[in-house]
Amino acid sequence: MQARLIRGVLLAGLCLSPLASASAESAYDAGTRVFRLDGGDVTYAFKVDGQGLLQSVYWGARLANGDPVDSPAIKGLSGFDVAANVVPQEHAGWGGGLFAEAALKIAFPDGNRDLVLVYAAHRLERDGVTVQLRDISRPVNVTLRYTIDRDTGIVGRSATIVNGTAGDIRVDQAMSGTYVLPVGRDYQLNFLTGRWGAEWTRQQRPVSAGATVLESRRGSTGSENNPFFAISRAGATTEADGPVWFGALAWSGSHRITVDQDVAGRVRVTGGYNPFDFAYRLGAGEKLETPIFYAGHTGRGMGEASRLFHRFQRDTILPHAADKAPALRKILYNSWEATEFKVDEAGQVALAGKAAKIGVERFVMDDGWFGARNNDKAGLGDWTVNRQKFPNGLKPLISRVNALGMEFGLWVEPEMVNADSDLYRAHPDWVIAFDGRPRTEGRNQMVLNLAKPEVRDHLLKVLDELLTTNRIAFLKWDYNRNWSEPGWLGAAPADQQRIWVDYVRNLYGILAELRRRHPGVEIESCSGGGGRVDLGIMGLTDQVWASDNTDPVDRLLIQDGFTQAYAPGTMMAWVTDSPNWLNKRSTPLSFRFLSAMQGGLGIGTNLNHWVAEDFATASTYVAAYKRIRATVQRGDLYRLVRPTPGDVESTTLYVAADKSQAALFTLVQGTHRLDPRTPIRLQGLDPAARYRIERMDGAALPEGVPAVASGAYWMGRGLDVPLRGDFQGAGFILTRGS
Ligand code: DGJ
Repeated sequence: MQARLIRGVLLAGLCLSPLASASAESAYDAGTRVFRLDGGDVTYAFKVDGQGLLQSVYWGARLANGDPVDSPAIKGLSGFDVAANVVPQEHAGWGGGLFAEAALKIAFPDGNRDLVLVYAAHRLERDGVTVQLRDISRPVNVTLRYTIDRDTGIVGRSATIVNGTAGDIRVDQAMSGTYVLPVGRDYQLNFLTGRWGAEWTRQQRPVSAGATVLESRRGSTGSENNPFFAISRAGATTEADGPVWFGALAWSGSHRITVDQDVAGRVRVTGGYNPFDFAYRLGAGEKLETPIFYAGHTGRGMGEASRLFHRFQRDTILPHAADKAPALRKILYNSWEATEFKVDEAGQVALAGKAAKIGVERFVMDDGWFGARNNDKAGLGDWTVNRQKFPNGLKPLISRVNALGMEFGLWVEPEMVNADSDLYRAHPDWVIAFDGRPRTEGRNQMVLNLAKPEVRDHLLKVLDELLTTNRIAFLKWDYNRNWSEPGWLGAAPADQQRIWVDYVRNLYGILAELRRRHPGVEIESCSGGGGRVDLGIMGLTDQVWASDNTDPVDRLLIQDGFTQAYAPGTMMAWVTDSPNWLNKRSTPLSFRFLSAMQGGLGIGTNLNHWVAEDFATASTYVAAYKRIRATVQRGDLYRLVRPTPGDVESTTLYVAADKSQAALFTLVQGTHRLDPRTPIRLQGLDPAARYRIERMDGAALPEGVPAVASGAYWMGRGLDVPLRGDFQGAGFILTRGS
């Protein structure tokens, strides 16, 4: 028996690489033909069945070494549901009687569209396994790549389709793969929806027969359905306990995740390129690679699912040197809400002086500095400094900002063009459009077709020059509309629809090359708010903008949804003016700080309107934020009270990985009657250690709260924070051993 078991190279003690750990392993049992991946607390297993189909076997809590991992042969249920349909295939070709969601659908030039993918070969690798599939009769080969993260057990799956025929084939659907959950009746799908200004809304619905489709057809990720899912069990899963299967696509273009329960009761989650309007011509010998679809499992609730995913993003997805954590987010000031397009040297210098006084570390000039950009009708595409606003270029402003001890950052929106721009006048065929058809504009702008090599090369050159000639430490990379009329001017009809993939690949190429040439420059992904946040763009940018909605109450809801999927250390949050520009709500400055300090802190107010007291309040909170930022950005997030729309109340706790510090935020939109508040019981502390507690604003502790107590006390007894009134909040820092 043992002789048949061939293990991957991650066996404890056998691996020479210092990166390897005893807790990740890949193995293949030649007797049962079962592949088994183990990492963190997770086991993931699949097998080659009697027909050669690749079949899911198990995905859940980690099993013991030597446990029997196999599943009985699966037969069709009836003449209506033949085996191909009932077998929970890992990567099903559309053919052979399949009605469930296919991973791959191909049209051959002779009209054949039947594709049955069977096992051909495999290779165990350092971090997973690669499995070759091939069609039963035609030379179409698919390489499936499986990885498992040794710490979190998060699996990564992608597929590369190779056209081994002598002519063209057309790929009509290319998914990264299907994840299969055990048979069950009580599954709930948790997902994130939204629109501009209201991104990251949490949704939940039962999983049943009848698919739920989470998708974007916009050309980019979009706010409507983030490419993220989490499946819990009704009655069994809470924030703190119970099983959760979760995952996200690493793709910034049109995407689709389909969640369905098949005729045999299994839940199948299939994700990849959105097949809507998809048709990718593959010439002889050409290949198409899908995005990676990551997914994890925990038995410890929605909170732990987030913490695992956050850790995985910090360790594996976000850009950073191999042996380091991602850099901490700088506290930034951004000019947009203060000046909009009315930027000039004197105005920006005045704001910079004030920002430096409260401890800001990065001064970012937003839209309006280039071309004929006085409003949103002109200038996009012309990335040269507007000499009326900056007669001596950007250098004097940058020098002033640097002299004040801050880095300089700049707003760009490289993928767009206004019709009223020199670029569009010179290259009207560079936009996404259909020949001879109207070109829909959004915010008076059109999308440049980055799939065209000449557009890609132009953007790389322009941005490279901007970064080479100016001391710019940060780019806010904006993207303010979605695609329409998705034509590729000049491309052959058969290649038109490659745009859905090639655009995004070239965008990634530009970002990667800029990072290579300018390794010190950090980049933010912004899409008029949180419209392009996904694991693909996060691999090439350092931070993201969650929403243009900066109201601190709405933000608590937005941040709660965001952090269900993505790490708080990536999420920028600004303190802006009151009343808020979007919903006209007035809130105290301290409340705005306590809301924004739960991510990467930014300040976007018009500092010219502040009085001395505001500067003092801001300085206090900025100083407190600098003390806790590593904990907020790299620690474990516990959502102790999750806000719900209507009457928002939120209590969040961030605990440093080594448990040496914790940061607690509790905020209420309004209190009612004399209703008592529940004691706040912390989580994740070291029960035996002693922690000193203090308020972030330096005020006295609430009555009855001891200055020092054990972790066990803070987690068992907790603290009473009696808030009264509207827009009230308090922040606390707990420090171990003091
Ligand atoms: C949309 C962004 O979300 C805003 O923060 C700002 O940068 C504007 N674009 C500028 O046009």
